[in-house]
Parts: sequence; C-alpha cells; structure tokens
Amino acid sequence: MEEITVEALNTKDFIEQKVDEISRTVGDGLAINALSGGVDSSAVTMLGHRALGDRLRTYFIDNGIMRQGEPERIASIFKKLDVNVEIIDARTEFFDALSGITDPEEKREAITQTFYRDVFGRLVKESGAKHLLQGTILTDVDETVAGIKRQHNVFEQLGIDPEKTFGYRIIEPLIQLRKDGVRRVAEALGLPESVYNRMPFPGPALAARVIGEVTPERIETVRLATVITEEELRDVGAFQYMAILHSDRVTGMRNGERDYGMQIEIRCWDSVDARVAKPTRLAYDLLDRLADRITNEVPGVVSVTYGIATKPPSTMEAI
Ligand code: XMP
Repeated sequence: MEEITVEALNTKDFIEQKVDEISRTVGDGLAINALSGGVDSSAVTMLGHRALGDRLRTYFIDNGIMRQGEPERIASIFKKLDVNVEIIDARTEFFDALSGITDPEEKREAITQTFYRDVFGRLVKESGAKHLLQGTILTDVDETVAGIKRQHNVFEQLGIDPEKTFGYRIIEPLIQLRKDGVRRVAEALGLPESVYNRMPFPGPALAARVIGEVTPERIETVRLATVITEEELRDVGAFQYMAILHSDRVTGMRNGERDYGMQIEIRCWDSVDARVAKPTRLAYDLLDRLADRITNEVPGVVSVTYGIATKPPSTMEAI
C-alpha cells in the first residue's frame, strides 16, 4: 500500500473511493466498528455509515481505561450526526486481562486479545457481521513493523490473518494516510472540529500511561491527572500532551508527616506526524500550576516531573 501524503490527498475523491470500496467489500452483509472518539475511528465511522447505512453497527467499547466522561461525550457527538452508538460495558474483562501484567508489550497484547478475540469476536457472532472496519493508519503500521511498539490494531503486516485468528475480516480505509491526512478527511466528512482537530490518543488508552500494573485504582489516578493536564495545556498548541503514572514511589511529606507517594510525569510534544517529536518549551508558571494542581487534586501524588527527552530515543507514550 502506497502512502497518500497530505499534499497529494484529494479528500472528495478519497471519500468517494473508500465508500465505494467498503460497499463492494461488505456486499449486502453487515459490518461492525468500534468508535473510540479519536479522529481515526471517527472518520472510519462516517465512511462506513455513508457506505453501509444501518448495516454498520457502531460500538463504543467501555474498557475502563478511557478518559473521564468519554463514553457519554462520544455518543452525544455522534447522535447529532445521526449515527447510533451502542456502549458496551467491557470494564471487568479488560481489568481481568491486565491483572498482574507489568511488561509493556504483554500489556499491549492483553488489550489486543481482549478487544479482537473476546469483545469483537462476541459482537461479530451476535450481529452476524463478517467484517470489522477500523482506523489503522500508516504510522501504526510503521512502528509495529519496525518492532518499536506492537500497536493494538496491526495484524496483516505481522503475518496474522484476522479471519483465521478471530473469524472476521478487517477493512482499513485509512491505511495509506498519516494523521494530517486523516484530519482533512474527517473535516470533509462533516465531523465537528472538536473531533477532527482532537489530539491523538492511543488505542491502549490510559494503559499506555501506567508504568507497571494496570488496576482500576491506578487508572483512576492517571485519569484525574489527565483531566488537569489536558485543561492546563489545551492552549499551548502542542501536538499531544499527557500524564504518566510511574510505578516506583518516592518519599514525600504532607502535613508534616512522611508520605511515600506516587509520581506523575507530564509529557508535552511538538510534532507533525508523531514520527519524531520534541518536548514543548512550556512556560515555568504553567509547569508550576500543573505541579500544584496535580499534587493537591490527585490523591497520593507527591511528585510531578516534566519529560525533557526527544523522540527518539524516547517514544511519546510511556508504554
Ligand atoms: P509513540 O508512543 O509510539 O506514539 O511515540 C506515537 C503516536 O501513536 C500513538 N500511539 C498509538 N495509537 N494504538 C494507536 O492507535 C497504539 O497502540 C498506540 N501507541 C501509541 C501515540 O499516542 C502517539 O500519538
């Protein structure tokens, strides 16, 4: 598959061609897709609905590791676009699968299997669908093939046949694009700016930002820190910003007593397409406010640091 650069992209032609391809591939059958609310899955949802109408079932998988208020927020955005989104509560399944795992790639694998084998496998069986539409983009493939991170949504390029492994075919209409191209397509599909300009968020969700074991409690900590980080850094114009929970504790003090507490690392990236990135030169008063709010508003956190390494050798997410 050849890359379509943003310069070469004609959104109208692209949309027409992909709608046509999806219609032809699915025929008169059914397809399903999972909407996370990110720009990639949102664009795929709109393409799929143009091609298939009601024959596409769109689900929001509540895996317990999404950001605060996401399921309701996404369902309400798509309701306005006449797309019905069914919320599937899979929180217990995901936390069970992640229990006891600390290795980053094992965590990613547990999330992949829970999504594709367990949850989608069940939804495909229940609905009678033969196809899953998903928003894999070229950058996901590159990093997986290079062995840097096993992106949760890449199979064929790793020699995995989804039909044999999971019992359904995967359609990937965005596989030739990078993030900037997807944003253009999403805008042309009539999605609101809050969607097409939304910052990227990884498939493994907040689990990509918890170093060590992912538990409901640790997710809640990183989720609260994420709310504050996203509020404070919204206007700096960065490509992506995040809060990461470290696994080791450090000695702190609170009300004159020792508090052996948690550490949050903030990362804020300048980047064009996520392939390389530099930390944003944030103003010190902004860093002060982040430290102040996170140590006061997130229970148990005594240390806040700012990540100052570039990608490479760092990657953007911690896991
Ligand atoms: P890294 O951490 O690899 O992230 O430098 C580069 C970009 O990709 C996003 N990311 C993912 N997106 N599935 C996704 O859909 C994943 O498994 C995944 N891992 C990282 C990350 O948020 C950043 O924008």
